[in-house]
Order: sequence, then structure tokens, then C-alpha cells
Amino acid sequence: MSVAEDIAQHARGQASPADAQVKMETRNVNVFYGEKQALFDVNLDIRQNQVTALIGPSGCGKSTYLRCLNRMNDVVDIARVSGSIKLDGDDIYDPNVDVVEIRARIGMVFQKPNPFPKSIYDNIAYGPRIHGIANNKKEMDEIVETSLQRAGLWDEVKDRLGEPGTGLSGGQQQRLCIARAIAVSPEVILMDEPCSALDPIATARIEELIDELKENYTIAIVTHSMQQAARVSQRTAFFHLGILVEEGDTEQIFTNPTDERTQDYITGRFG
Ligand SMILES: Nc1ncnc2c1ncn2[C@@H]1O[C@H](COP(=O)(O)OP(=O)(O)O)[C@@H](O)[C@H]1O
Ligand SMILES: [Mg+2]
Repeated sequence: MSVAEDIAQHARGQASPADAQVKMETRNVNVFYGEKQALFDVNLDIRQNQVTALIGPSGCGKSTYLRCLNRMNDVVDIARVSGSIKLDGDDIYDPNVDVVEIRARIGMVFQKPNPFPKSIYDNIAYGPRIHGIANNKKEMDEIVETSLQRAGLWDEVKDRLGEPGTGLSGGQQQRLCIARAIAVSPEVILMDEPCSALDPIATARIEELIDELKENYTIAIVTHSMQQAARVSQRTAFFHLGILVEEGDTEQIFTNPTDERTQDYITGRFG
């Protein structure tokens, strides 16, 4: 089977139900790094309890867009964001918004697993401690266990919670980072190429996990793998040169794209 057929086969049936709620709404989003414009008038909805894949050639603005969704561009000195970005209808760039709270509600998992140089337990407990989520040791123990269970890591680490998180394998570290994001009860989880540093088995494990997580969370994932987008997402957005060229149900994007640039990208003509 050709790669294109493989992708199409996985994409078939991947669609967002007509009544899916919008969790995050972005309108006319422009991002500048100094003089250079990286995103141009992006309009995209991230639907609740769905996985939205952001695809496109390197440098097209996928990470920039993802970082807008939880104000991570705030920490990039030269970045300037304009437009409207709403979570449940509320502007997350409103001056009265608490950015720390926004980043708890909208968690992030990065390309390279980045556990803190702490124990497995303390990696998970870190966020809940900052946010004062647990009232006592027992409650914290429960949060740690539940988070690790949801991230599919509990059975592998339950007997060594005191050992350093950095001692785990790459795939386990990435699940630890997902558990860490989950521990503060986010509503949205943003993932920026979460599997690109992992082997195929660890990647498959994370993809299964993403599929389970969408029951409880809304997910936006940047991926350079079209197979991965077809396997895990219900909605796909294709970016090119800072422009959102096309978005739609994953099945439609991979089997019947409307824009020639999307067609060229998914058939491997560039990127
Ligand atoms: N911190 C930054 N400073 C300046 N330019 C940046 C920065 N981050 C990204 N860019 C530029 O913005 C554009 C989009 O980058 P990025 O969002 O990282 O793309 P992608 O994730 O699709 O590869 C690129 O031209 C990149 O060089
Ligand atoms: Mg990127």
C-alpha cells in the first residue's frame, strides 16, 4: 500500500460530529516576531473533546499558532499577537486574565520530554502544589495516582515514585509530562510534535493515549507526520507560509482537499 493510501485509510471516518462544541475560537490572529509576520489572519475553531491536528511544512507557523492558545508567546520578547482568542467564549488576552491560571486550564506538552530534575512523584505534584489544589498528603497522593493512570504510566512507575523522572525512557518521560499537564485538571492540552523524539513503539503508545484523552480533554496537536494526523485527529488544519490554507474534518482534508496547496502537501510534493 502506498503512503497516500495508508493515510487515506486511517483518515476515513475521522470527523467531528456536527454538534461538537467549540472550546477555543481564534479570529484574525496575526503574530509578528519584530518586523517579521509569522501568522496572517488565522481563523480556526478548536472543538471540544476532539483532537485537532495542525500540519504543514517546517516554518509555516504551527508552533507559533499553538503557543498563542495558552499565551506562551508572551514569554518571547519580540513576539506580538493580535486578534481574538477565546476559551469558552472568554478572551484569554483580556488584561484582567490571570496568565498562570490560563496555562493551568490550557496545558502544554513539548517536542522533547522535559521532566523536572525531581522525583516522579514531585514532577506530578509540582503544579497542584503551586495552585494549592491538594489540601493534604492523601489528596496529593490521589492526584498523583490519577494523573499517572490517565497518562497510562501508573503501572510502570507505581513502585518507584521516589526515583528521578529523568531516569525513565523517552516514551515514559513524555507520558510523565502528559501526566504533569493533567495533574492541574486542564481543559485543553496542547502538544507540539510530542512524538518526534520517540521510537515507533513509544509513539504508538502516545497515539493510543491521545485517543483516550479526548474523552476528557480537548486536544490540539502539531505533527509533521500526516499518518499521525490521520490516525489521531478528527479535525485537521493545514498551514502554509503563515496562512491557514484549509481546515476541515480529517477525512475530508486527507481524501478530498479543496485547495491545491493542501493536495500538494499531503501527496508529498513539498514540505
Ligand atoms: N522566537 C522567534 N523569534 C523569531 N522568529 C521566530 C521565532 N519563533 C518562530 N519564528 C519564525 O516564525 C516562523 C514560524 O515558525 P514556527 O511557528 O516555529 O513554525 P513551525 O512550528 O510550523 O515549524 C518561522 O519563520 C520562524 O523562523
Ligand atoms: Mg514547530
